[in-house]
Amino acid sequence: MLKIITGIVIICLLTFSLAHGKDNKIHFPAGYKSTYTNYVSNDRIQNEDQTIRLFANEIAMKGPGKDGKLPYGSILVAEVYKAKKNKDGSVATSILNRRIRGKFALVGVMQRKKGFGDDRPDGLKTGDWDFAAFKPDGSVAKKDLNSCRACHAPISNTNHLFSYEHLVK
Ligand code: HEC
Repeated sequence: MLKIITGIVIICLLTFSLAHGKDNKIHFPAGYKSTYTNYVSNDRIQNEDQTIRLFANEIAMKGPGKDGKLPYGSILVAEVYKAKKNKDGSVATSILNRRIRGKFALVGVMQRKKGFGDDRPDGLKTGDWDFAAFKPDGSVAKKDLNSCRACHAPISNTNHLFSYEHLVK
C-alpha cells in the first residue's frame, strides 16, 4: 500500500514539474520596486499603445563586464502599462508628446544564469538569459515564453537587451 501511495506521489510530482517547472525557471522578484533601480521609463518602441518602466537589480546595475555581457545573477524587470486613450480611441499624449501611463498590464522578467537556454534551439538562444511573465499581483501570466526569446534572440551584440546602452557604465 505504502509503495502504491509513494508511486502515485512521485508520478504527481513529476507531472507537476513537467507541466509547470520546465518553462518556468524564474521566480517573481518580490520587492523589486523598492530594491531595484528604475533605469529607464519610456514609450514602447514596438507597441504603439503601451509604456514601459525598466528596473535592474544591483548586479545588473554594475553593467556589462569585459566580455560585453551583464554578470550572472543579473535580473531585469519590465513593467508594461497600457497607454491612456482619448475619447476617440487614439492614444493620448501629454504636452511633452509622451504617452500617459494607464493600467499596469504585465511584469516581464529576464534573469541571467549560466546554462539558461542550453536546451533551446539556436533561434531561441539568448546568451544565458531566460524570461518569465507575471501579472502585476505576482502570479504567473499565461505567455508563450518562446515569443519573448525569439524577439530578444537576434540582438546578440547587445547581450540580447534592447536597453543595453542604458546599463553601460
Ligand atoms: C516583438 C518583440 C518583443 C517581444 C515578443 C518581447 N520583448 Fe521584451 N523587449 C522588447 C523591446 C523593444 C524592449 C525595449 C523596451 C520597449 O519596449 O521599448 C524590451 C525590453 C525588455 C526587457 C528589459 C531589458 C531589455 O531588453 O531592454 C525585459 C526584462 C523584457 N523585454 C522581457 C520580455 C518578456 C518576459 C517577454 C515575453 C513575455 C518579452 N520581453 C517579449 C521587445 C520584445
